Amino acid sequence: MPLCDLLDLQLSVPDPDGLVAFWEGLGMTRTDHSTLGTAARPSQLRVAEGPYRHVSELRLGCTDEADLAAIGARLDGLGVAWTLSDGVLRCHDPLADHDVVVVVGRAEPLAPPPVRQVNGPGRRERVNRRSTAAVRAEPAPPRRVGHVVFGSTDVAATVAFYRDGLGFLVSDVIDQGIGCFLRCSTDHHNLLVMPAPVPCMNHYAIEMDDVDAIGLAGMGVLAERPDASVYGIGRHVLGANLFWYLLDPAGGMFELFSDMDQITDDAAWEAGERRDDWDPFTIASWEPGPSRPDFFLPADIDDLARARAAMGR
Ligand SMILES: [Fe+2]
Repeated sequence: MPLCDLLDLQLSVPDPDGLVAFWEGLGMTRTDHSTLGTAARPSQLRVAEGPYRHVSELRLGCTDEADLAAIGARLDGLGVAWTLSDGVLRCHDPLADHDVVVVVGRAEPLAPPPVRQVNGPGRRERVNRRSTAAVRAEPAPPRRVGHVVFGSTDVAATVAFYRDGLGFLVSDVIDQGIGCFLRCSTDHHNLLVMPAPVPCMNHYAIEMDDVDAIGLAGMGVLAERPDASVYGIGRHVLGANLFWYLLDPAGGMFELFSDMDQITDDAAWEAGERRDDWDPFTIASWEPGPSRPDFFLPADIDDLARARAAMGR
């Protein structure tokens, strides 16, 4: 696979300062005026001002210069325009609003979370003292941006752009093509494409250390906005990740996730695990209850459509 990482996302929203302040409050660090990073990765979310909420740029890493040329050749085959300058390949998602940038480079490595001693049946690792999970003073901070989910008016065309043009690999397919999970790293998915009446962002996802980190961060959001929870906590089937979906102050859905399937042997996954016919209603192996309707489509989708139309999109 020529691609090796999702490096960062640029989000455009009408109130960028509010979104930056929100993520700073959850433990991300402001690298500059509009860039949010984590301890190991100085750029994970770049927040720009825009007339409506959308992803405006997706930045990917690839292994070497030859990958950039190969991606360009494949984009030519799809009839998608691209430029290559100073080691940066730029193109535009043909259906959505955003640019895709590919550079040579990997995301900075992450240090694993501290090993936590866990008690269980037949296992007594932590004795005569409390768990750090119970008495932690500060929530563990976000670790990285992991994936983004786009709504598309033509899922097959969008999948073709990312798979056949940019070189993403398909991990699982929902119901013969209603939705498609794609990866540009070892994560089960860095991208999910779902149907929507207008191109939109469904959610972006932030990796956390574990279920406690998800829970504490999510409760921090609810302390400010009690109605922010959309769906969770639960565990997905496809990707296997623990999840909690909430709304950011710009109205965008984000997912706090942990423990996602990792794929390092494409052939082994293809042969043994990949599903092309997954039931779209089997979302989770366990969950607290039905998701809100805005799990599938933003509640303000009509406003987003009007804003796009006003921009001539
Ligand atoms: Fe997700």
